[in-house]
Amino acid sequence: MAQALGARLKSNETLGDRVIKVDHAGEHGAINIYTWQRAFAKWRCPELVPELDEFLAHERRHRALFEAELARRQKPRCHSFHLCGLGGAVLGVLTGVIGAKAIHATTEAVERVVLRHLQDQRGALRSVDPDVVSVIDAIIADEQQHHDNAANHLRGKRGLTEKVIDRFVAASTEAVIWLGMKL
Ligand SMILES: [Fe+2]
Ligand SMILES: [Fe+2]
Repeated sequence: MAQALGARLKSNETLGDRVIKVDHAGEHGAINIYTWQRAFAKWRCPELVPELDEFLAHERRHRALFEAELARRQKPRCHSFHLCGLGGAVLGVLTGVIGAKAIHATTEAVERVVLRHLQDQRGALRSVDPDVVSVIDAIIADEQQHHDNAANHLRGKRGLTEKVIDRFVAASTEAVIWLGMKL
C-alpha cells in the first residue's frame, strides 16, 4: 500500500493520513492563490472580485475540513505546507498582475490537476479509509465548479499566454503534490 499514489509513508502514518496532509497543504496554496489574485483583480479586473470572494470562501472551508481531520488524527501539517503557501502567493501575484485571462487559466490548470488527484485518492482509499473519502466528497463539487467556471470564461479565448500559464501551473501543481507525497 505504501506505493499507492506515489506515497513514501512514515512508520506511524497511513496513506489516508498522508493524503489529508497533502490536501490540507494544497487548500492552503489555493487560498493564497485566490487571495493574491483578488488583491490585484481589484485594480486589473474588478468584475472578477465577487467570483474570487466566493472561491476563497470555498477554499477556506476546504482547508478547515482537512485541518479538522488532521486534528482528529493528531497528525502534524505536511512538510510541504509552507511551500504550498509561498508557491500559491507567487502564482497569485504573477497572474493577478497580468489580469483576468491569466487568472482563469491558472484556475483551470490548478483545478484540473487537483480534480484528477482527488479522483485517484478516492479510488485508492475507498475501502481503506472512508473518512478521507468523506472529506473529499465534501469538497469535490466546489473544485469542479471552479474549474468549469474558468473553462467557460476562457472558451475560444486561449492565446499563447494562457497556454504557457496552463503548462507552467499544471506542472507546478503536479510537482508540489508529488513532493508532498514523498516528504
Ligand atoms: Fe479547495
Ligand atoms: Fe478550488
